[in-house]
Amino acid sequence: EAPKPLAGRTAIVTSGPTHEPIDPVRYIANRSSGRQGHAIAAALAKLGAKVTLISGPVTIADPAGAETLHVETAEEMLQVVLSHLPADIAVMVAAVADWRVASAAGQKIKKQQGEAPPPLFLTENPDILKTVGHHPQRPKLVVGFAAETQDVETNGRAKLERKRADMIVANDVSPETGVMGGSRNRVKIITAGGTDEWPDLTKDEVADRLAALIAARLG
Ligand code: C5P
Repeated sequence: EAPKPLAGRTAIVTSGPTHEPIDPVRYIANRSSGRQGHAIAAALAKLGAKVTLISGPVTIADPAGAETLHVETAEEMLQVVLSHLPADIAVMVAAVADWRVASAAGQKIKKQQGEAPPPLFLTENPDILKTVGHHPQRPKLVVGFAAETQDVETNGRAKLERKRADMIVANDVSPETGVMGGSRNRVKIITAGGTDEWPDLTKDEVADRLAALIAARLG
């Protein structure tokens, strides 16, 4: 039997993209496979936590050991996250769409011969991590991710403060890194105490290390 340092702890994990409808057949989304978030949910469960994974649309299987709830949009994801507070741990890995279409069409938008393409008017989505970080029932440990293509550490540290997170896992997702959709990840762990650079690891290894770090921080 492996040690269970997170026994008796509850954790909320978000994973995957969100899909924001344009009309019943079209949507806006971010590139996210859900692999890192799902691996983190499994890793926390292995350490004994009671894990609720709230996942956007993904093609990978629900992870072992966690209760997985499926949502489509950022607004749905926020509601399901808030309905699971209080919790001890929140790890927000989902690549949430920053914007949604202000008023999605109820019927498929038809292409009209000779007419200009329709404009899309966007409105801001709720920031789930920031909402949780500032919530009266804020979990003891709030962890966010920062997928950047430049200035990874500066941007990650700004997020730590703005979203009131205890830890930001920052990574470079430039196309040449192969991180997006791939099985490996190279991350920096940003906390108030400093920055720790982890070596190139599989997403499962990142998840196991992160779960161990979370367990250590909760004591
Ligand atoms: O600001 P940015 O999207 O880069 O921040 C990334 C972090 O914030 C991730 O942890 C992501 O899951 C979270 N986030 C969120 N809701 C949003 C946008 C980002 O929870 N609307």
